Amino acid sequence: MAASSSSYSMVIVTVVVACLVLLMSSSSSAQLSTNFYSKTCPNVFSAVKSVVRSAVSKEKRMGASLLRLHFHDCFVNGCDGSILLDDTSSFKGEKTAGPNNNSARGFNVIDDIKSKVEQDCPGVVSCADIVAIAARDSVEFLGGPSWNVKLGRRDSKTASFSGANGGRIPSPVSSLSTLISTFQAVGLSTKDMVALSGSHTIGQARCVLFRARVHNESNIDSSFATKRQGGCPSASGSGDNNLAALDLQSPTAFDNNYYKNLIGKKGLLHSDQELYNGGSTNSLVETYNKNPNTFSSDFAAAMIKMGDISPLTGSNGQIRNNCRKVNS
Ligand code: HEM
Ligand SMILES: *[C@@H]1O[C@H](CO)[C@@H](O)[C@H](O)[C@H]1NC(C)=O
Ligand SMILES: *[C@@H]1O[C@H](CO)[C@@H](O)[C@H](O)[C@H]1NC(C)=O
Repeated sequence: MAASSSSYSMVIVTVVVACLVLLMSSSSSAQLSTNFYSKTCPNVFSAVKSVVRSAVSKEKRMGASLLRLHFHDCFVNGCDGSILLDDTSSFKGEKTAGPNNNSARGFNVIDDIKSKVEQDCPGVVSCADIVAIAARDSVEFLGGPSWNVKLGRRDSKTASFSGANGGRIPSPVSSLSTLISTFQAVGLSTKDMVALSGSHTIGQARCVLFRARVHNESNIDSSFATKRQGGCPSASGSGDNNLAALDLQSPTAFDNNYYKNLIGKKGLLHSDQELYNGGSTNSLVETYNKNPNTFSSDFAAAMIKMGDISPLTGSNGQIRNNCRKVNS
């Protein structure tokens, strides 16, 4: 009979869909949730926020540094707090790998947050989650969007010097296609990449990383190039650690001026200008320049996606007592 055979196939469809939903929800990122500590550490958000507030009010740049820590943590074996581990006799960690050495900062602030959180709820909140919350609060304090941070990540028991050096963290001399593939490798889209790059609306970069761009590239505004050459001598090795703002217009405000800079050929890093150099991402840069609300919501969505990269959950990893050391 037609009716019963169609209801029979409905049952099959329902069972198949239910199996798919179960399969998808057992993938690791689905285990993170915004209320993970609501019973075990209800004050975690206010504890993190108060330490971030005082650190950022002392030094605005710290907001940028904390945001970048989350990015560099997540791109190397997932958001597992691995970037926070000091070197040990059994492994060389990520702190001195090329993209982090003399560059990643904010470790003391993370330590301060951890101590405060441990006073309230000892042994409960992971360092990886603290970094994720601190990144969100930093953006918010500097005037950017906010979002609900998903939590429940656990901390790694090791860190990877070679992983942090192996091209998973994108280099500032990357081409557009390399930038796209580096993000794709961790499950992030081209749109996520362009939105997350808007982070360069805050923070600073060292001369050694933008020297060739400001002295030698042609897709750069000439007065901007001259200005940045001022703090960054052309001779290699000279002034390598001199700093310049990534966003020349509003270096401590989280806004969409980054995209305006790119359209004016005033991106500081080669990789920045690659997003607006006649390629497939030009139109998205124009959208984010014209529409700050679209940028804000795409940025927030992409931060949540980035925070979902390969977390340790369940009985994997541990909750470190000290963010710099694996529990003994
Ligand atoms: C698209 C590829 C990216 C490249 C090639 C890149 C590269 C860089 C470089 C070279 C610096 C300066 C480091 C130094 O001079 O020591 C920097 C700084 C920074 N990056 Fe990125 N980045 C990228 C994406 C991101 C993303 C996705 C985020 C955050 C979600 C981010 C956040 C930051 C921040 C906030 C700073 C300033 C840090 C500070 O002042 O302490 N970057 N980035
Ligand atoms: C990190 O930077 C320091 C200071 O510039 C340098 O002496 C050291 O060799 C660097 N470490 C690595 C692993 O490159
Ligand atoms: C600029 O390019 C020239 C020619 O390739 C090279 O010799 C020089 O070292 C470069 N200068 C900088 C500052 O990158």
